[in-house]
Amino acid sequence: MICFETHITNSSLKFFQKNLKTLFDFNQINNIVREVSGINTFFTSQEEATELLEKLKENSSIVSEPNRREYGDFQTNENLAEQVAKYAFLKQKGFEFILEPTCGKGNFILASIKQSNSLKKIVGVEIYQPYVWETKFKILDYYLINKETNKPEIDIIHGNAFEFDYNQLAKSTSDLKTLVIGNPPWVTNSELGSIDSKNLPKKSNFKKHSGFEAITGKGNFDIGEYISLIMLKSFENHNGIFAFLIKNSVVKNLIQDQKRNCFKISNSEKLNIDSKKEFNVSVNACLFLTHLNTKPDFTCKELDFYSQEYLTTFGWYKEKFVFSVSDYDESSIIDGKSIFTWRSGVKHDCSKVMELESVNGHYVNGLGEEINLEKKLVFGLLKSSDLKTDKTNTYRKLTIITQKKIGQETNYIKENLPLTYQYLNSHKEYFDKRKSSIYKNKPNFSIFGIGDYSFAEYKVAISGLYKSTHFTLVSPKDSKTIMLDDTCYFIGFDNHKMAQIAHFLVNSDLVQKFLKSIIFSDSKRSINKDTLMRIDFERAFENYEFENVKDFISDLTHEHWKEFGEMIKNNVNEQITLF
Ligand SMILES: C[S@@+](CC[C@H](N)C(=O)[O-])C[C@H]1O[C@@H](n2cnc3c(N)ncnc32)[C@H](O)[C@@H]1O
Repeated sequence: MICFETHITNSSLKFFQKNLKTLFDFNQINNIVREVSGINTFFTSQEEATELLEKLKENSSIVSEPNRREYGDFQTNENLAEQVAKYAFLKQKGFEFILEPTCGKGNFILASIKQSNSLKKIVGVEIYQPYVWETKFKILDYYLINKETNKPEIDIIHGNAFEFDYNQLAKSTSDLKTLVIGNPPWVTNSELGSIDSKNLPKKSNFKKHSGFEAITGKGNFDIGEYISLIMLKSFENHNGIFAFLIKNSVVKNLIQDQKRNCFKISNSEKLNIDSKKEFNVSVNACLFLTHLNTKPDFTCKELDFYSQEYLTTFGWYKEKFVFSVSDYDESSIIDGKSIFTWRSGVKHDCSKVMELESVNGHYVNGLGEEINLEKKLVFGLLKSSDLKTDKTNTYRKLTIITQKKIGQETNYIKENLPLTYQYLNSHKEYFDKRKSSIYKNKPNFSIFGIGDYSFAEYKVAISGLYKSTHFTLVSPKDSKTIMLDDTCYFIGFDNHKMAQIAHFLVNSDLVQKFLKSIIFSDSKRSINKDTLMRIDFERAFENYEFENVKDFISDLTHEHWKEFGEMIKNNVNEQITLF
């Protein structure tokens, strides 16, 4: 039967039918419910008790579920809730107090009740009334069936987690061994802003807590992160465990901000779950479990939730925030400042016109048009997806390089390259449509990410789109350098041997270990200029002897090796731009 917009199970139904008369007095039925299940104030008013009474008489009612997007509503399935609760109870015994701050349909509460017969108090808070009912009925159901089990005092509160006084609750439960368990809303403040939702903490609530400036400063923050912070702030002095299902990005932020927050948490674990399987969503999420009231530490062990396979330990180490403490430990000497300036490739935001393919001796653009151009401004172009090999001097696409420097006048094209000019000018509207402000008030057909460095003959390049830390050596084709697009990063050389040595060094075990130790596998665009600028070429070079390298680079002489060493030593105090 459906009542209070929730499904009432048969055993609860039978129970209320048996006690039908007492529904006329909500205090009387509340006492009976407390006796059998521990739940305080099952009905908060006579109206509620009467509503059930009426429903029991009608015996059916159908309600449709409203859109719950603003509540970040992803209910944890019973099986997962049970596995999480089991894991938490395995980590610590004897919990006395369970708190679920956004308890939804109550699966975590029930899973925790099933784990222990010694609980004294349970509190669940939930903003959506039908879920409050569902949780209450679920618990009642459980105790109706399991009559002999210990009954803790239970409060399932219809309330707002942003307004609930968790400090007061923390004070009244300070001597109870605590498990804060749950799965807070999966929604960000900007998503809520876009649907004009009020389900947000009040601005004034942030200000009370020191740890909150960090997240509110980030324009877009996760509501789950905010609720996690409230929990850690309120319950860090309790003996016990905090165990939340949250997005991976939230855990990363919590550990990163731990440096400033210094919550009394340690032995943190991030156990990766399969959110597609559990919640049918494509969001990287995990169980974050940490021990409260302990000496603060600043790292977190990452494991697979299902197999418990160890993956890495990330967090603060040697004053750096790293993805793998052990890899960083072995490779931190590389962490410095690159003497070569890493650049990103050419940007034009006009691929239909500016990207060409060579077909039977002429060019075809992205509009499918066959065109004839002078060869002068046409260069081979590599994209991130082309950088899978170790070395290359071939390309699938070509591009038109209209400038040698940002802002350079392009009138020369009209004068010297009539076919190119005619082509560009006849497609001028595609250039004029470009929205980015970088093209405003710039010469016609302007491009970006261009400078002397773009014309270096040899390039050591990496994709900025993928997770691979492998570098490709790009050599010229028919004596013409190959360009990279703006999804790639590179350093350029005019000397083949110098490029080969740099290519060897960045792909060497030590540099690879270093990059893998600082790159977080699930963050977006993790290979970027800042990361690459940390590669200390001098240290990488010192790690190898000519004798060990010569077999990897054909025709490498001692002189080449020395020349590279001198090039980077001479400039070590002053970062150089080779081109
Ligand atoms: C991701 S669901 C998880 C529910 C439950 N913890 C579980 O694991 O199944 C988040 C829950 O938070 C509730 N919620 C959203 N905003 C809330 C608020 N401001 N206060 C209390 N609960 C809220 C939603 O209604 C939803 O039930």
